[in-house]
Amino acid sequence: MDRNEIINWLRETNDQRLEQLWRQADDTRRRAVGDEVHLRGLIEISNVCARSCLYCGLRAPNAKIERYRLSDEEILDCAAHAVQLGYGTVVMQSGEDYGVQTDRLARLIHQIKSDTPLAVTLSLGERPDRDLLAWRQAGADRYLLRFETSNPKLYKIIHPDLNNRPSDRIAILRRLDQLGYEVGSGVMVGIPGQSYDDLADDIVMFRELRLHMIGVGPWLPHPDTPLAQMASQLRLPPDRQVPNDEITTYKAVALARLACPWANIPSTTALATVNQANGRELGLVRGANVVMPNLTPLRYRPLYEIYPAKACLQESPDDFHLRLRSRIHDIGRTVGAGRGDSKRQTNASSARQAETGG
Ligand code: 5AD
Repeated sequence: MDRNEIINWLRETNDQRLEQLWRQADDTRRRAVGDEVHLRGLIEISNVCARSCLYCGLRAPNAKIERYRLSDEEILDCAAHAVQLGYGTVVMQSGEDYGVQTDRLARLIHQIKSDTPLAVTLSLGERPDRDLLAWRQAGADRYLLRFETSNPKLYKIIHPDLNNRPSDRIAILRRLDQLGYEVGSGVMVGIPGQSYDDLADDIVMFRELRLHMIGVGPWLPHPDTPLAQMASQLRLPPDRQVPNDEITTYKAVALARLACPWANIPSTTALATVNQANGRELGLVRGANVVMPNLTPLRYRPLYEIYPAKACLQESPDDFHLRLRSRIHDIGRTVGAGRGDSKRQTNASSARQAETGG
């Protein structure tokens, strides 16, 4: 699949043709990663953020939200809950919060890794090399960092530098790979100013980076962010602008699957937010194989408002889990057992295998 084919699919409006895309993506998903849907328990450990991304409700200048950091005990309770629900992974996510100290998090990772069989995924922003190394050495398995858009001009607009240090997420992703993490990235679909060519380049970039994990969701305007206010100025003419809608997001999920058959691809909360009735299921039958149920204590959930009206704001993990299980079975799939590691080897495991001649 080359860039032109990707562009044609992104622009496709014929339902019958699109059925072919969904079928191809679903067939590829089944052949490459099987029928298991892996569940990753999400723990939103802090909503403090040093950055000022124009799209995100957690941006530092947003004084309207109350900020929180979970205690060690709260985080460990969430991890225990993940084990109890049978999940193989916890994802610790936060704003880019330098108050989440390197050593403290390393100790927590080490404790979770010694006390439980969980894989640990981190999603903590653009931290310096030494942090990424310390957490890897403490036992962290995976790292998520979306590059948001591969168009450098658009990225610069929506993601201002911090302390005049240029932000190079692609370089960090390559570094994470060298450190032996499973590496995840992704983009938002329909950022004002994002063209069809840009989104096709994003998908080509997924393949180039050989990502283990790919997350895509629609950009959802948050009223307390500059991007929501500037959208009409940034938006391209309708024949070039990617819409931030449900169908275009399914196309991006399906194309990500075709570009990276081996990747773990979540059906994202943003998708479940634009179609509360069955967005999550439709993602799963159009290329996705992962769901990330939220384990954050309910009282903190409204404070982690990346975008408004996030799905499942007030649903308890146990209720959500029961409903999710039955929905996964309803679409003929099974709930994944074990950690659900990527089928693509990490650099660490290929190095180990080389050593042992395996
Ligand atoms: N709409 C949709 N997704 C968003 N994200 C941040 N803000 C928004 C928004 N307004 C996504 C970004 C980020 C991830 C954690 O959430 O892609 O990497």
